[in-house]
Amino acid sequence: MKKINLKTNLGRISLKNPIVLASGCFGYGDEYKDLISLDDVGAVVTKTITLKPKAGNPPPRVVETASGILNSIGLANVGAEVFLKEKLPGLLKKFSTPVIVSIAGETRDEYLKLISLLNRKKIAGIELNISCPNVGKDLTIGQDEVETFGLVKAVRKKTNLPLLVKLSPNVTDIGKIAKSAEKAGADILSLVNTFSAIGIDAETGRAKLGGVLGGLSGPAIKPIALRMVWQVRKTTSLPIIGMGGIANTSDALEFIITGANAIGLGSAIFINPDLCREIIAGLKRYLSRKRIYNLDKLVGSLIV
Ligand SMILES: Cc1cc2nc3c(=O)[nH]c(=O)nc-3n(C[C@H](O)[C@H](O)[C@H](O)COP(=O)(O)O)c2cc1C
Repeated sequence: MKKINLKTNLGRISLKNPIVLASGCFGYGDEYKDLISLDDVGAVVTKTITLKPKAGNPPPRVVETASGILNSIGLANVGAEVFLKEKLPGLLKKFSTPVIVSIAGETRDEYLKLISLLNRKKIAGIELNISCPNVGKDLTIGQDEVETFGLVKAVRKKTNLPLLVKLSPNVTDIGKIAKSAEKAGADILSLVNTFSAIGIDAETGRAKLGGVLGGLSGPAIKPIALRMVWQVRKTTSLPIIGMGGIANTSDALEFIITGANAIGLGSAIFINPDLCREIIAGLKRYLSRKRIYNLDKLVGSLIV
């Protein structure tokens, strides 16, 4: 039988298969070590790190919805110092899989400080989470073309590491934001982050989340995420990590056919930690059945 090749390249980052563990959905790696072998996946993106530790939003932080998860974690994380000393070395030592570190700052200066801390580390890339609140303004960087361009350009000047930009879906035209990131020097685009949403408990008359506003993920968002991957594929030539509600092989294939070079797994991992292995096996079966043999041939093959 002909060998199936699942390898994919995200610019300078080579992945043995297209499965990427999405930021925030497997902690810092340690938490899932008995459930997922990080060596099985193509790449991992760490929980978003900020310069200083963050306690995050008041509980409840996660609630279930009809077809997904509503979360308001509020970027709770150990902060750069502890991450670099206690979390990253283990990740890099124990696994050969490329590790991408996700960062967020409240100001441009904070992003730049984080970049200088990460520059000499043996990581595969840096993902800019630009979906976090921008100080003093009622919008996130990723909702504005000019802000996106400015931040990515400033960061680009400070690092030679592969630069990923994680796009916010809470915009009118994601293609425009993607183009801004590309023009400013991004190497790879990750999309989408969660959709701004709210959950209400009619009995108590209160918001279900302590932080009131949350982000919706899971199967409910898949068709919208696919539409966004399609729009971004049409506007830029950058490699794309597509995500949003992927819960089985068919979902993964839909993103790849639409134009994603790799796919991110998030919420579904909470339900089925074995999903990575299942999708890898499923992709091989599909490619063999279709006699395609090279996953890359499928990327962006959508017939319209
Ligand atoms: C509990 C939770 C925490 C998350 N934390 C982060 C984060 O720290 N940084 C980030 O860029 N995205 C974060 N995300 C977004 C995911 O990486 C992903 O973009 C989103 O959930 C859509 O994919 P999914 O529908 O497969 O979950 C988080 C999502 C969830 C559900």
